[in-house]
Amino acid sequence: MSDTTARRSPLMTVDSDGIAWITFADPTRRMNVLDEDVMARLADHVDAIADREDEIRAVVFWSGKSDSFIAGADIEAIGDLEGPEDAEEKSRLGQAIFLQVEQLPVPTICAVHGVCLGGGVELALACRYRVASTHEKTKFGLPEVQLGLLPGWGGTTRLPRLVGLQSALDLILTGKNIPASRAKRIGLVSNTFPPEGFRESVREFAREAVELPRGASRPTRSLRDRLLEGNPIGRGIVFRTARSNVMDKTGGNYPAPLKILEVLRATFPGDLETAFAREANAFGELAATSVHRHLLHLFHLREGAKKLPDITVDPSPIDRLGVLGAGVMGGGVAQLAAAKGLEVRMRDIRDDAVTGGLAHARSLFRKRVERKRMTRAEADRKMESIVGGLDLHLVANVDLLVEAVVERMDVKKQVLAEVEGVMREDAVITTNTSSLSVEEMSEALEHPDRFCGLHFFNPVHRMPLIEIIRTSRTSERTIATTHALALRLGKIPVICEDGPGFLVNRILGPYLNEAGHLLSEGVSIEAIDEVAVDFGMPMGPIRLLDEVGIDIARHAGETLHEAFGERMAPSPALVALEGSERLGKKNGHGFYRYEDGREKGIDESVYREIGGGPRVEADPAEIRRRLILVMVNEAVRILEQGIVRSAGAVDLGMIMGTGFPPFRGGLLRFADEQHPRLLLQRLEELEERHGARFEPAPMLVRAAEQNRLLYDLFPDDTSGR
Ligand SMILES: NC(=O)c1ccc[n+]([C@@H]2O[C@H](COP(=O)([O-])OP(=O)(O)OC[C@H]3O[C@@H](n4cnc5c(N)ncnc54)[C@H](O)[C@@H]3O)[C@@H](O)[C@H]2O)c1
Repeated sequence: MSDTTARRSPLMTVDSDGIAWITFADPTRRMNVLDEDVMARLADHVDAIADREDEIRAVVFWSGKSDSFIAGADIEAIGDLEGPEDAEEKSRLGQAIFLQVEQLPVPTICAVHGVCLGGGVELALACRYRVASTHEKTKFGLPEVQLGLLPGWGGTTRLPRLVGLQSALDLILTGKNIPASRAKRIGLVSNTFPPEGFRESVREFAREAVELPRGASRPTRSLRDRLLEGNPIGRGIVFRTARSNVMDKTGGNYPAPLKILEVLRATFPGDLETAFAREANAFGELAATSVHRHLLHLFHLREGAKKLPDITVDPSPIDRLGVLGAGVMGGGVAQLAAAKGLEVRMRDIRDDAVTGGLAHARSLFRKRVERKRMTRAEADRKMESIVGGLDLHLVANVDLLVEAVVERMDVKKQVLAEVEGVMREDAVITTNTSSLSVEEMSEALEHPDRFCGLHFFNPVHRMPLIEIIRTSRTSERTIATTHALALRLGKIPVICEDGPGFLVNRILGPYLNEAGHLLSEGVSIEAIDEVAVDFGMPMGPIRLLDEVGIDIARHAGETLHEAFGERMAPSPALVALEGSERLGKKNGHGFYRYEDGREKGIDESVYREIGGGPRVEADPAEIRRRLILVMVNEAVRILEQGIVRSAGAVDLGMIMGTGFPPFRGGLLRFADEQHPRLLLQRLEELEERHGARFEPAPMLVRAAEQNRLLYDLFPDDTSGR
């Protein structure tokens, strides 16, 4: 075989039983992708099969990769779509090829082992039969909605006709992945086989399929589902419920799920031709939305964060993780690491803290078992991989250590020096500090090159971001190793230089403080929080203060004030709460009231404590401007100072670390869309009214003067920084 033929995917071979095997195995990519070439070759094979009808008795589509089937369409090509007509046309082309597959006169079998996403599922849906391996890597999903699109190669149309409306909506509207067992339960696949001997099982299945009458693959659905979905009234209920769920979850800010519902409402059940046309047209419309572009941008930022192009050394292997401090963060880090298959050694100086840390980890595993994410046996096994204790030597032989003791520089320095003395020379040491200088801390170490910050967010198992903080002495190997660890823990790493608040907390600080200023001026809590939620934030800043803890937020604010002076001076409202019993959600007593951790409305008595008079009306546009601009301005200063290098890194950090609305593409993407010139003008107005905290960052002034965008001035490299 020549080189070019070797690279061709899919390949077709016909075996002695007359079964054509169409094998997707692109050696140039880690996973198979349905790009233009692959689709064209697929179409050629399908044509050839139609011509060899008497010789070929069945067709199997499958993958030559060891742990994946097809990862979907080519994301680059999605980015290259030129407007709605082009997108609709590409959707029609894909549909046409899969229609050819569907119309083949012989049985077609899609045999899925490993990940099967997007276009991969749509190919499977066009086949007469779908079978899957029971391997844990076998997963089905239609992630298009996460890019602001819909499955446009027939998936939106075919899936509900195969598995029923409710199961289809559950997949298409969320983009989630399901394992083979669930795919079988809903009727997406008819048979599952063990991964060992999968190919043999598929061959056997194909031989039998040749003998079966057409249409034998229809799954049976429950009577309840058939009754509900089999008439217009029942379907109306399903659609209304789905729409209200979408509105609850997205606030109507994402057009794709609403469009999916609109398309299905209009075309299901009904003739395929009309449905395909509507599907393609909707795909075109969605591809032209700004939300799609923003979500695609976010996808690229996330992919970029997985790479470290500037670093040439390999990461050291990490099998055993040490954790110092078994508190909220230590317990959380230990559980996450164990869940991802690492051995964990957790040390605290208090016996009750060790017990508490282990109990915290155990309760997180229990929740996973309750949610059927893990079997009890697996959870028990993972829990056993965490060893807790008081002896410092417990962490002597770990590959990487996370220090998560109390937030005091003197304690941290002392603890780090002590632990370095017992650890292996080649081990990496990290601190989870959220506000102290990592550079200063590194002075306590003999070998500061092996040290950096590894800032997890709370709660560790849920928050996707990790900030890796580099000091002037951190080695490349240390960065490569912590970066690899972050990825292994399923997190998104953003690399920052040292500086107060690093990236995310430094931007959140002035935002929360501005909410405090608004409160001091007499604006009501609901008016402030409502504006932020309407903008798309997961919760308002005042609610967030309660979540973080009013005392903790004050402390963090103080650090920023010390570092940056007047522009971070704490708002009178927050100063007034200094030393008060009002700590936030953790003691049920914050700006809001809480019972058993549940929010029970605003606590009006807080207004007396912060010394405000009656609440005043405020223009929501003005509130929004202040809250957002103060963040943009700080973000630009962060870039100026080189804490992170690219506007994309700021946006990734804010989306993953604070839930900044993904549909807006990020804080600075939003700023660019408004344009630096307009933002400068607004900041100057605000500075006049409110003083130095709105003084425009010099680089924003420059951007406005040069008529340039922030993404232009601080472009992405591919490291996601
Ligand atoms: N809680 C958060 O939201 C959050 C978020 C990000 C980062 N952090 C950072 O993580 C670190 C820990 O925070 P936390 O909230 O888990 O605190 P915590 O008070 O819950 O836990 C700290 C633990 O460290 C233990 N400890 C003290 N000295 C020790 C020593 N010499 N050796 C071993 N253990 C020792 C204490 O006994 C305690 O159990 C801090 O640096 C904090 O700034 C916290």
